[in-house]
Amino acid sequence: MNKIICGDALTVLRRLPDKCCRCCVTSPPYFNLRDYGVPGQIGLEPTMQEYIVRLVEVFAEVKRVLTDDGTLWVNIADSYSGSGKGAALYPENAKKYKQGTNTGSCGVAAITKNKYDLPNKNLMGIPWRLAFALQDSGWILRQDIIWSKSNCMPESVRDRCTKSHEYIFLFAKRQRYYFNSEGIKEPIADSTIDRLAQDLEHQSGSARAHGGVKTMKAVGGSRGAFGGKQSRHRGNQELTAYRNKRSVWNMPTASCGKNNYATFPDELAVNCILAGTAEGDIVLDPFVGSGTTCRVANRYGRRYIGIDLNSEYCKAAEAEIPINLF
Ligand SMILES: C[S@@+](CC[C@H](N)C(=O)[O-])C[C@H]1O[C@@H](n2cnc3c(N)ncnc32)[C@H](O)[C@@H]1O
Repeated sequence: MNKIICGDALTVLRRLPDKCCRCCVTSPPYFNLRDYGVPGQIGLEPTMQEYIVRLVEVFAEVKRVLTDDGTLWVNIADSYSGSGKGAALYPENAKKYKQGTNTGSCGVAAITKNKYDLPNKNLMGIPWRLAFALQDSGWILRQDIIWSKSNCMPESVRDRCTKSHEYIFLFAKRQRYYFNSEGIKEPIADSTIDRLAQDLEHQSGSARAHGGVKTMKAVGGSRGAFGGKQSRHRGNQELTAYRNKRSVWNMPTASCGKNNYATFPDELAVNCILAGTAEGDIVLDPFVGSGTTCRVANRYGRRYIGIDLNSEYCKAAEAEIPINLF
């Protein structure tokens, strides 16, 4: 089953059978950040509470269609209250302002009209409000992952730091779930490799790296998931070492493309898909946008179901995925 389905996420999900997908990787429309130009879209609700209620409803259906050992990965950014430039309350302004035209993943930190009992300039905490709402609805919140953007947009603010991160939340349906940590292990840092590659036999006392405990695995020639080979030599032996993936992911933003989808980078989808699925599993994205999740799933031998309300996006996403294969 490889499908991109055009329609409202909740409506389409209700038609899918129980437990058909292993993993959901998605980035819902951010609150008040942009207008996708389609009636019924999520993200332009008058209040953040209404926005979160709609997302909780969608993710309840996602839970139903996931296998019991399935996982949900949600990428989401925050907004500020205050200046009244939000797309929902001033739709005619949506195109004029940076957050309306937008940038999304490529820019972010929009400021929305304050209708939320929050004094102006407040960070609204949307990602955590959503995370707690999903937790309250029965999801197990397993981890907050920081997407640290190496190429974040500059901001003109001088009374806080420039925003350079978004969240990725990992949720599980049950306490025991599929998570292939080996699939996303990362090369250890060069400095650690240098330290561990010292000649341990001829060291003594505190000069001895790790007190003499060898933690390197000799797996010569293999490569890290995304980078070059992380290795050093000791004698004839090539040393390559990996560690469990850390919870801060340094990734540049993806190009937004002509449709301004707020695309997340391929690497983000790769990490979630390799950890959350085995080959042949079905990956779901109910807000598929440019189709990143489906394209990456296809590349790694997974099947996919993508949903988007915007039919132009659906067509464009389909066109991006090479005919496959499986
Ligand atoms: C943040 S973008 C997703 C970007 C995607 N992760 C990518 O890499 O291109 C959110 C998407 O949700 C879609 N959307 C908005 N409301 C929707 C709804 N009610 N049902 C389905 N899709 C919706 C928008 O059209 C937009 O493409």
